[in-house]
Amino acid sequence: TAPDDHVIVLFGATGDLAKRKLLPGLFHLAAAGLLPDGYRIVGSAPTRSAMSDDAFRTLAHDAVATFGRSKPTGPGWKSFEESLSFGAADPQDPGALLAAVRAAEDSLGGPSRRLFHLAIPPSAFASTIGMLGDTGLAAENAKVIVEKPFGTDLASARALNETINAVFDESRVFRIDHFLGKESVDNILALRFANGMFEPNWNRDHIRYVQIDVPETLGLEGRAHFYEGTGAFRDMIVTHLIQVLGIVAMEPPVSLAAEPLRDEKDKVFEAMRPIGPGDVVRGQYEGYRDEPGVAPDSTTETFAALRVEVDNWRWAGVPFHLRSGKNLARGRQVITLGLREPPLRMFPTDLADQEKNRANKIVIDFGDPGWIAARFLTKEPGPAMRLEPATMAFGYAGSFCEENGLEGYERLILDAMLGDQSLFTRAGGIERIWAASTPLLENPPPVQPYAPGSWGPEPAVSELIAPYSWHLPDAA
Ligand code: BG6
Repeated sequence: TAPDDHVIVLFGATGDLAKRKLLPGLFHLAAAGLLPDGYRIVGSAPTRSAMSDDAFRTLAHDAVATFGRSKPTGPGWKSFEESLSFGAADPQDPGALLAAVRAAEDSLGGPSRRLFHLAIPPSAFASTIGMLGDTGLAAENAKVIVEKPFGTDLASARALNETINAVFDESRVFRIDHFLGKESVDNILALRFANGMFEPNWNRDHIRYVQIDVPETLGLEGRAHFYEGTGAFRDMIVTHLIQVLGIVAMEPPVSLAAEPLRDEKDKVFEAMRPIGPGDVVRGQYEGYRDEPGVAPDSTTETFAALRVEVDNWRWAGVPFHLRSGKNLARGRQVITLGLREPPLRMFPTDLADQEKNRANKIVIDFGDPGWIAARFLTKEPGPAMRLEPATMAFGYAGSFCEENGLEGYERLILDAMLGDQSLFTRAGGIERIWAASTPLLENPPPVQPYAPGSWGPEPAVSELIAPYSWHLPDAA
C-alpha cells in the first residue's frame, strides 16, 4: 500500500545528515515508486541559512549525485526536483516556513498529511517542537520523526519526551534509530523466529557470549560540533548498538505488530544490569584534540567498548560485548554469537588455538549488503580424524535482487509515512537505557589514547572481555 499524500518538512535540510542520507533516501524512494502520488518536500533551516527554492534544488541535486544510489537525471529527477521547496524558520519567526507548507499543500489540492523530520542538533529539538505546536503546524494528525541521540542522560530524555508529548501524542512520534531500519537487522527477526534451526539454541544453555561490533574507519567528517558534545557512547552505543542488542536478545513477541514487538524489546532494556565505569573502556584517537572545532583538552571519547549483562531467564550469565569507534582499522557491522562446546571432546585435535576449538559461531554481518554465516568444525579429508573450521553462508548479494532493498533511513521514512511504529523506539525503552547507563555517565573512566587505524586502546580493550576475545580482527 502506498502512503497517503504527504508534505514532508525536513528540518536541518542543509546539514550533513540531510545531504548524506535523507535527500538521497527520499529520492531513492521516489525513484522506486514508493512515495505517494502526491508529495512535496519542504526543506527548512534557521533564517541565517535561508535559501531560495532553486538553491535548495541545487543542494539536493549535488547531495544525491554525491551520496545517492539513484542518480539525479531524467524525468524521475525532474519531478522530484519540482516537489522541493524551501522555507526558513526560527522558533520566533516561522513565517517563511508556514508560507512554504501552505504553498506545498495548495499544490497538492488542499491540506494533506504532514511529516516533520527533525534532523537537527538535540539542543534545537525543544524549541522546534514548541514552534510546531504554537503555529498549528502540528495539528491535523501531523507526525514527527525525531533523530537520535534522544537526550544526553535520563533527566534530559524524560524532559524531551514531555516536551514532545505536549504537542504530539505518542502515536504520532517516530523516534528514529536508522540501524533498526537496516535490512539485515530486521532479518534477525526472521532468522530467529521463522526457523526451527536457530531459536532452540538462542539462549544461555547454548550461547557463551554475544558480540556486537561496529568499528568505523570514518573519522569526524566535519561533525566536530555535534561529536564533541556527544561522543561514541551516546552517538553509537546507547542508540544503535543497544537497539540491535534488543533485537538479538528479545523474547518472541506474540505478533509482529508494533506494540508486542516493542514490548519485548523494551523488556530486554528493563533487564539490563546497570553499566558502571569498570564495564567500559573509553578511547580517544591520537590527533582528535587537534581537529578543527575540538577543544584542546577534550575528554570526549571517540571509542567505547563495554560488557553488558542481561539479567533474565534466557541470558543470565551470558556476557554481551559491544564495541564501536572512529578511525579504527576496519569498518564493519557484525554480530557474533559464540556457541558452547559439546560436553565431550572425543576428537583428537592438534588445534592449538583455543578459539579455533570453539569454532561454533553464528555471525551476522549487518553492513550493506549483509550476510549470515554459521561456523562449525568439519573433518579434513584424509585418513586421520583432523578437524578444521568450516562455514555455511548466506549473502544478500547473489541471493536476492539488491535493487529491491531499502537502506535504513529509506525504510523508516516510508514506515513513518505509513504510520507504522514497529521499528521506532519508545520513550520508556530509551529512558531505561539511560537509567542503566547512569553509573557510567556520572563517573566516566578517563579516555585512553589510541593510534588512528588501530583497534582502539589495547591491551585494555582485550582485557575488558577476557577470557573471551573479540571476533574481529582475527576472523573475517
Ligand atoms: C550515525 C552516527 O548515527 O551512524 C555516525 O552519528 C555513524 O557517527 C553512523 O558513522 C553509522 O551509520 P551507517 O548507517 O552509515 O553505518
